[in-house]
Amino acid sequence: MKIGIIGGTGSIGKGFALRWGQKHEIIVGSRDQKRAEDKAAEYKQILNDRGFDADIRGAVNREAALEAEVVVLAVKYSKVASIIEQIKPVLENQIVISVIVPMEKDRCTIIPDSGSIEIEATSREDYMADYFCYTTPPAGSAAQEVASMLPEGIELVSAFHNVPAAKLSNLDISLDYDIGVCGNYMHSKNIVFDLVKDIPNMRPVDVGPIETSSMVESLTPLVINIAIRNQKKDIGIKFVD
Ligand SMILES: NC(=O)c1ccc[n+]([C@@H]2O[C@H](COP(=O)([O-])OP(=O)(O)OC[C@H]3O[C@@H](n4cnc5c(N)ncnc54)[C@H](OP(=O)(O)O)[C@@H]3O)[C@@H](O)[C@H]2O)c1
Repeated sequence: MKIGIIGGTGSIGKGFALRWGQKHEIIVGSRDQKRAEDKAAEYKQILNDRGFDADIRGAVNREAALEAEVVVLAVKYSKVASIIEQIKPVLENQIVISVIVPMEKDRCTIIPDSGSIEIEATSREDYMADYFCYTTPPAGSAAQEVASMLPEGIELVSAFHNVPAAKLSNLDISLDYDIGVCGNYMHSKNIVFDLVKDIPNMRPVDVGPIETSSMVESLTPLVINIAIRNQKKDIGIKFVD
């Protein structure tokens, strides 16, 4: 399968290229042809060193989308509207995957265990803590925003929101994670289920239609907050029964 990764030069794009490049043809997309080619060469070398005859090349985002059967939108939420504007003319029957999580860092006050002490204005900073929150887009989720921007007939699947990029791109790590998959077209969802299964130990879970995407997207700031406050690193999601 030909997979075009829009923003494939970035953190999560690298992980997808290294995992899927073991089996699929990858086009690393970028705004810049040279950056795309350099990153594609880097990813190819990593896989070649591990004995894979990887087929990975770089291209500008529009060309990556044009050539691909599956297009992964691996850019920040704030950039996706302009990216879709650029690739829209070449979208005909590709499956589009949104991995986008709209979130931001905020600050709050943590009251220490010593009780309801008056926090001096000068020392207030000592009690401030960063946390991440989901920033709900007007349409309800990033995926629903993307869906509203895509040409009619393009099948969108929302998935992979809770996978930490650092672990995805570390091929020594086996990812024992569940991947929530949202979408309204079973054909494209089944293809994404298979792409999840191509990554050893990952399991796809069907969450529902694209309208459920906010629930999965918003798990990402949750797991990041848990990781930060519990001295864990890059944790993922697994559902147990
Ligand atoms: N990082 C994670 O662990 C993780 C996990 C799950 C989901 N996600 C989601 O994946 C998406 C990408 O995250 P990331 O951490 O990989 O992002 P990133 O590394 O910051 O950026 C990805 C790519 O976006 C491109 N880009 C930067 N500014 C742009 C602009 N103004 N217009 C168009 N493209 C631009 C850059 O490629 P070029 O400069 O080469 O064009 C960059 O390499 C986000 O929506 C995030 O929520 C991330």
